[in-house]
Amino acid sequence: MKHLQTRHYHDFSKQAANLIINQLKAKPNSTLGLATGGTPKGMYEVLRHSKGDFSQAVTFNLDEYVGLSANHPQSYRSFMEEQLFEHIDVAFSYIPNGEADDLEVECQRYEQLIKQYDGIDLQVLGLGHNGHIGFNEPGTPFSSRTHVVDLAESTRQANARFFKHYEEVPSKAVTMGIETIMEAKQIILLVYGEDKQEALERLMNGEVDENFPASILHQHPNVTLLSGGVKMPHY
Ligand code: GLP
Repeated sequence: MKHLQTRHYHDFSKQAANLIINQLKAKPNSTLGLATGGTPKGMYEVLRHSKGDFSQAVTFNLDEYVGLSANHPQSYRSFMEEQLFEHIDVAFSYIPNGEADDLEVECQRYEQLIKQYDGIDLQVLGLGHNGHIGFNEPGTPFSSRTHVVDLAESTRQANARFFKHYEEVPSKAVTMGIETIMEAKQIILLVYGEDKQEALERLMNGEVDENFPASILHQHPNVTLLSGGVKMPHY
């Protein structure tokens, strides 16, 4: 795992955005895997103002809440529209449909779509405090494909800041599985802020263990970890 450290959020975001822009320069019709959450907002801001050409790129988001309509302000579809898609011209963007009548069928459909594009070239990931990637909570099998998950209480609490009331935070989501994520040709893991340092340390020093989903990334051949935001630990 290649590890790049920056102190300031703007530099961190610029580095992340540059990795995406370089990918698009090398392969304009790239398939990009995208993430939501607070961490990548700066990256999306840089991308919104960049001259990156997304016109041939296809994007797949990692996950979506179950039960929120696409136009609900807290759906990940709304997040992505606001952060990126309303501002750039992307060939096609896919996000799981958390309102599908049959969520199992939706999960299979999503897997098939990714396959149709020959997999994901570059996947952006954030890191949950408990080590989750996408919405793959601790204990999720490393062999998982796109599936429906029950969100951990701690994850609902962490994401409650985006909702008016805690009770509004959905308790389920559809997420790409860990194996789905691991099949991406390249991965960027974004970890920023003091509150993520414990998780970062566990990632760097802990075992590869299903109880800390991000640990599997040590077994991927092409991961860039971008971290920053506090006094820099020395690894
Ligand atoms: C959510 C998302 C994850 C994201 C994580 C961390 O649970 N499903 O994809 O990585 O939150 O988010 P943040 O960047 O806000 O800390």
